[in-house]
Amino acid sequence: MTSALKAKTLSVAIIGAGIGAEHLQAYLQLPESFRVQVVCDLDDRKASEISSPHGIAVSANLLDVMADPSIDLIDICLPPHLHFEVAVQALKAGKHVICEKPLVSSVSEADDLLRVLAQSGKQLFPVFQYRYGPATMQLQALIDNELAGRPFAASIETHWNRGADYYSVPWRGTYASEQGGAVLCHAIHNHDLLCRFFGPVKRVSAMTATRVNPIETEDCASISFEMLNGALASSSITLGAANDTTRLRFCFENLTVESGTTPYAPAIDNWVFTAREKESQPDIDRVVSAVKCEHFGYAGFFDAIAEALSGHTANIVSATEGRQSIELVSAVYQAAKEQRTVTLPLDTNSDFYHSLHPFSGEQS
Ligand SMILES: NC(=O)c1ccc[n+]([C@@H]2O[C@H](COP(=O)([O-])OP(=O)(O)OC[C@H]3O[C@@H](n4cnc5c(N)ncnc54)[C@H](O)[C@@H]3O)[C@@H](O)[C@H]2O)c1
Repeated sequence: MTSALKAKTLSVAIIGAGIGAEHLQAYLQLPESFRVQVVCDLDDRKASEISSPHGIAVSANLLDVMADPSIDLIDICLPPHLHFEVAVQALKAGKHVICEKPLVSSVSEADDLLRVLAQSGKQLFPVFQYRYGPATMQLQALIDNELAGRPFAASIETHWNRGADYYSVPWRGTYASEQGGAVLCHAIHNHDLLCRFFGPVKRVSAMTATRVNPIETEDCASISFEMLNGALASSSITLGAANDTTRLRFCFENLTVESGTTPYAPAIDNWVFTAREKESQPDIDRVVSAVKCEHFGYAGFFDAIAEALSGHTANIVSATEGRQSIELVSAVYQAAKEQRTVTLPLDTNSDFYHSLHPFSGEQS
């Protein structure tokens, strides 16, 4: 963001020092917009490890942090089952909120959160940092220049490798605390990119399985989507690949888009944009090469938030999009459980509106 756009430097509290460490590195790239005032974690050592090299305070008491009037923004990097409660607390304490994925644990929680948000006068930004990078900016520029055309079909691979080490963290792998498996916690980013470029989902069918690790939640899935505009997409997910690969392919009427394979920041790769009609290729290449990207990943995401909070139009992730991401996961779990196609929006009377895993306590 240019300094002309900057209204004020926001004072940030990072809550949770796991992925919070990466958030901190991104804030440090944006000193005009953000100053991290405190890192809060129950584990003092973990908080100090990331904060002390930068002279940042630590706290083990979330309530003290919430009560501090000098903090503008609470950045929630806690295990998923704590997101809803802490986001509500923060909004009621008069703070803006950034919340790691998955935003909350059910669509009904998302709706409750949106109601609190509406009364708070503050803003809530669900984390989808994969959206930020040169490749996604290039694709957006091609769409804006009407060089893509209608979306036809897409394929998405989230083929990552997670083993015993990863699941040694107690909150992972259970319905009670992680809330879901690879659909909710890993492929959610890539499904967000699908919706970003192909629009909202109309209906889904899905199969899920737990085949890689001895956990409660799914670690493999195969999903088919029909988008509201009629385009089709498929998503293949496993946590049992030999390495970590994210691969996206979007076929539009006039353009086919292929990502690289960088797993956690696909938008920093060189994507290949191929015209269907050879004579359009120079126009495509011209638009792609004109794109300039200053910040990507978390830094790009935070930079867009700083712009939005300064009252400028910005490419942010809206709270409603955070809700949509949870509704889509719920629909996938319902489709898999009931072995049928599920149409969105979810019925508010549905068990899957109130819980991602309404029958998880039952014997199968
Ligand atoms: N966007 C991404 O790419 C990405 C990547 C990794 C993790 N995440 C998400 O970030 C969140 C955190 O994941 P993680 O891998 O950092 O987990 P983690 O277990 O490594 O870190 C969570 C931290 O929260 C602390 N904590 C727990 N309860 C607390 C409380 N009441 N007050 C203060 N601190 C408390 C723990 O001590 C721990 O250090 C999850 O929702 C996860 O899905 C997102």
